[in-house]
Amino acid sequence: MSEAIVLGGSNSRHIALGLAKELNAEYYPVEVKRFPDNEAYVRLPTEVKGKETVYVNSLQPNPDSSLIEALLTLDDIKKHGAKRVIAVVPYMSYARQDEEFNPGEAVSIFTVGSLFQSISVDYIITVDMHLHRITDPHRTFGAAIKNITGVKELTKYVRRNIDYKNAVIVGPDEEAEQWARVMAEGLGLSYTTLKKKRISGSEVAVKGELEGINGKDVIMVDDIISTGGTIVEATKLLREAGANKIYATCVHPLLVGEAYFKLVELGLEALIGTDTVLSPISYVQISPAIAEELKGILNAN
Ligand code: R5P
Repeated sequence: MSEAIVLGGSNSRHIALGLAKELNAEYYPVEVKRFPDNEAYVRLPTEVKGKETVYVNSLQPNPDSSLIEALLTLDDIKKHGAKRVIAVVPYMSYARQDEEFNPGEAVSIFTVGSLFQSISVDYIITVDMHLHRITDPHRTFGAAIKNITGVKELTKYVRRNIDYKNAVIVGPDEEAEQWARVMAEGLGLSYTTLKKKRISGSEVAVKGELEGINGKDVIMVDDIISTGGTIVEATKLLREAGANKIYATCVHPLLVGEAYFKLVELGLEALIGTDTVLSPISYVQISPAIAEELKGILNAN
């Protein structure tokens, strides 16, 4: 049995349990309740003093209350004398607002980073955090931070479950190039990316040169599916270009509002996401990828 313990926050007990199994460590769900006035109440389920303590919680759904729950718990772990506090945040919310796009806007991820810094956690592991404009996450969070990718786990799932030999991998926007490349390399396929212009929080326009798509199957891969707008527009374009079977995959299936129904109504061959955020398409477990990273951190001590 490992000397580490793994505590699960209310969004990610399934991942915490998976990690505890992989690490051969004790698992405990954190007690989380609400006071009558709706403030969060958190209580540690076990003694953490002197122990390597891994706390796991995605900051979705309900990003505001999830963030408070995570901060209360991490601070509690720190104050109770854990040997090291290792925060596993499979989905880091607020990372998409990483720039003052319009005058006067808060750059939310810097504020969230400062909050983590104030607790002095020792290590943060997150998954495909939206880091397009943050060049120094270590400085933003004031802790050693590792941003791993969930696309390798998605790729393993595709290899096992989809007849992908006639497929092209497509990133639905330019930022998705990094994920399209990883999946394409993993499957020995070629890839391309589309160009996206965001019109509003839920509206996008997508275009792209799509020679070579006619008659091919397409596997799209993105980090996040939120409103589904990107996948809907990309699918229209791919169909116009003559794509055969179309699959959509993502690491973080936020699927806000009507997104799931909108995507189902598109009639795609399959919709596949990981379980960083639980959703009807969370077929792929993220815990093996996180466990690999954790083993390195725990053994290095
Ligand atoms: C954007 O930067 C992300 O990589 C995703 O493409 C985006 O979050 C998808 O959002 P939606 O599903 O709302 O179009």
